[in-house]
Amino acid sequence: MIAATIGIVGAGGMASYHIPGFRSAGAEVVAIADQNHEAAKRAAQKYEVGKTFGTAAEMYQSLKDLDAVSVITPNAFHHPLVMEALKNGKHVFCEKPPGLNSKEVGEMAEAAKKSNKTLMFNFNNRARPESYAMMKYIKGGAVGRINSAQASWIRRTGIPGFGGWFTNKKLSGGGPVIDLLHMIDLALHFMDYPQPQYVLAQTFSDFIDRKEFKGPWGIPDVVGGITDVEAAAHGFVTFKTGQVLSIRNSWAEMNKREEVSVVFQGQKAGGRVRRLFRVDGLDNTSFDRCELYTQENGNAVNHSIIVEADEAMGRTRSAKNFALALEDKEAPLNTPDEAVKLMKIIDGIYQSAQTGRPVEIQ
Ligand SMILES: NC(=O)c1ccc[n+]([C@@H]2O[C@H](COP(=O)([O-])OP(=O)(O)OC[C@H]3O[C@@H](n4cnc5c(N)ncnc54)[C@H](O)[C@@H]3O)[C@@H](O)[C@H]2O)c1
Repeated sequence: MIAATIGIVGAGGMASYHIPGFRSAGAEVVAIADQNHEAAKRAAQKYEVGKTFGTAAEMYQSLKDLDAVSVITPNAFHHPLVMEALKNGKHVFCEKPPGLNSKEVGEMAEAAKKSNKTLMFNFNNRARPESYAMMKYIKGGAVGRINSAQASWIRRTGIPGFGGWFTNKKLSGGGPVIDLLHMIDLALHFMDYPQPQYVLAQTFSDFIDRKEFKGPWGIPDVVGGITDVEAAAHGFVTFKTGQVLSIRNSWAEMNKREEVSVVFQGQKAGGRVRRLFRVDGLDNTSFDRCELYTQENGNAVNHSIIVEADEAMGRTRSAKNFALALEDKEAPLNTPDEAVKLMKIIDGIYQSAQTGRPVEIQ
């Protein structure tokens, strides 16, 4: 089989994970298109990619045989770029969040179905060694039905700059609710992606304009830019199956430290996948754990599941999964229908926060 050829649309920071991930599956990364052509050229030089373009359209025009693209742009451009790629007959791997809302993502899912192309999103936390290990226990029946789960991505000082696209609702879709949606997705993945029924939530914007709550990644502030998103959210979701999920997402809140976790209570075992940080936002200061809690021979037993460390948090492995899925060598780690369900919960959180009422999910 000839290796799949992949183009990058948007030379965002995640290219440093996508490109080695695709290559490790045997795929060829042949071009980078960025509306800032200089950014495309810089990235092409860094990652040794042969061709660059100023727009995705030029790339499709020039590289007729391109198999797939990876979209790594600010959130507002995911929908138009994914729709354009599918229209041009490409498979698509798109950064998270899938889109700004469930309507956009529903349209993408529909377009992927119609064009019979693979559409996957970078829910990289599913590709962490801890998550793969936990899924083996869940699928193997050791956990039983998961009745309840708690999904948290909470930061103390982790606002990604002020006035850039991250804090501008029109460009990002929102703050930590949508940016840090990973643990909601991972909890749903563990719970077998049940159909949501009601969402009740509140958002808070305390600290969103306080400089000392900024994250450490060096994202520049944009003078005169817009900052109109939440800093934290707390919510509760019920599912048609009777399962329930609590959600805590924040960029800035009086938490002890950044914590990224899914905790669940199953009918046979409880469990937790967790990353803790010493310094908010810096992956190289973090440590990961994967645990199961059972009752055995009359005793409470805690199992520590030891897996290899992955500082990249599954970001390279998830890109590898996409490239392998194109060749039917692995099942895709996520589906467009799951992304639509996830975004309905995100929409529900914002709507409930705005109305002060529970939202019924259709
Ligand atoms: N999975 C993760 O862990 C993770 C981590 C960080 C960011 N992300 C996601 O990655 C995406 C990119 O974030 P970033 O911080 O790298 O963004 P960024 O601001 O660095 O932008 C990426 C590039 O996109 C280009 N671009 C914008 N619109 C374009 C268009 N229409 N066509 C072509 N290029 C275009 C920009 O010129 C820029 O070079 C976001 O969706 C973000 O949520 C994911």
